[in-house]
Amino acid sequence: MKPPQTLFLLLTLFLFYLLSGQKGVLVSAAHHHHHTQRHLFDWRPTKLFVFGDSYSDTGNNGKSVASSWKQPYGITFPGKPSGRFSDGRVLTDFLARFIGVKSPIPYRFRKVGAKHLKYGVNFAYGGTGVFNTLVLDPNMTTQIDFFQKLIKNDYVFTPKDLHSSVALVTVAGNDYGTYVATNGSVQGWQPFITSVVNQVTVNLKRIYALGVSKIVVTALQPLGCLPSSTAAFSFQQCNGTENALVSFHNLLLQQAVAKLNNETKNSFIILDLYASFTSVFKNKGDLGSIKFENPLRPCCIGISSEYSCGSMDESGSKKYTICKNPESAFFWDTAHPTQQGWRAVYSALQATLEELY
Ligand SMILES: *[C@@H]1O[C@H](CO)[C@@H](O)[C@H](O)[C@H]1NC(C)=O
Ligand SMILES: *[C@@H]1O[C@H](CO)[C@@H](O)[C@H](O)[C@H]1NC(C)=O
Ligand SMILES: *[C@@H]1O[C@H](CO)[C@@H](O)[C@H](O)[C@H]1NC(C)=O
Ligand SMILES: *[C@@H]1O[C@H](CO)[C@@H](O)[C@H](O)[C@H]1NC(C)=O
Repeated sequence: MKPPQTLFLLLTLFLFYLLSGQKGVLVSAAHHHHHTQRHLFDWRPTKLFVFGDSYSDTGNNGKSVASSWKQPYGITFPGKPSGRFSDGRVLTDFLARFIGVKSPIPYRFRKVGAKHLKYGVNFAYGGTGVFNTLVLDPNMTTQIDFFQKLIKNDYVFTPKDLHSSVALVTVAGNDYGTYVATNGSVQGWQPFITSVVNQVTVNLKRIYALGVSKIVVTALQPLGCLPSSTAAFSFQQCNGTENALVSFHNLLLQQAVAKLNNETKNSFIILDLYASFTSVFKNKGDLGSIKFENPLRPCCIGISSEYSCGSMDESGSKKYTICKNPESAFFWDTAHPTQQGWRAVYSALQATLEELY
């Protein structure tokens, strides 16, 4: 794969889309809002339904295989591994708190009896995408099938429940990871990104058609800034080629969501992880108490390239190192923010989240 060629292709596409008269600006984290609006509407969310990948999974991955169930994951919260891909809370937990519900139960732990499902259900599985990826866990289509079955076969949620619900969708990073690992053809990127966004759109429409009235979907995080990409640059610099591809994905997503909103009385909101991650990198999360020395350097690192955070050898000795204070790091492992990282991102997303009301 020749990066300059990819970049050229992407810039050309970008210009084409900007010049074709489409609004190319993502809902910015710095968008202005009227906070008083919140009280003008009689709408209080009572449930949160979550779909997608490890950015929102709170325990669906299998205990025997997923790193999220190994030490030192969860050391900050809840104090032991909990199936979250972080030292503590993830985006789902922050969003749940924002809308005033408890973090919903992972689908895997659901039990018969509505009590467990009071705050909604988390269907997200780490490692998954809209299409099948390198893991065997359910893709987003299957996750929505689970949701549909709870509604249509098990009658667990009423239309009223769904109407007072919010859905969160974090997806597509693993689709691109899988593309790089299994194909990586430069010519193939543009049609592949288009097909991913088309599938995301189909999925969003399905969740809406099932009766959820507010659907929050993340614009893709800058994949080129994840430690897995920046390790080659000693965690000093992002991979611009990858970020250009992500920008193209986000542009198509923004257009698709604008179209959906025109058709559905503004039921969809983009949470721009690209802009919020980037602004946190720039200001080092300087929101008073939060400060990241080098925001690109992860806290928990394998001692060599064959190991990762949570790795152990046969004798049970650790094959990773962990920073002294996870609160001082934005990234936890090679792909995921720390709890403090998510807090900084959530803070940058506050204004957008107010649009829920
Ligand atoms: C999702 O997974 C199922 C089961 O593996 C598969 O049949 C289906 O084609 C996948 N959906 C998409 C959109 O890739
Ligand atoms: C890889 O990408 C090329 C170019 O788009 C495409 O023709 C081919 O089918 C892809 N192969 C796989 C295995 O996806
Ligand atoms: C940047 O990402 C592209 C696409 O994944 C890859 O081909 C390239 O090698 C990366 N560049 C560096 C310097 O790692
Ligand atoms: C919104 O939809 C209407 C028709 O339903 C169409 O005339 C209009 O151009 C659309 N606006 C945008 C911004 O897509």
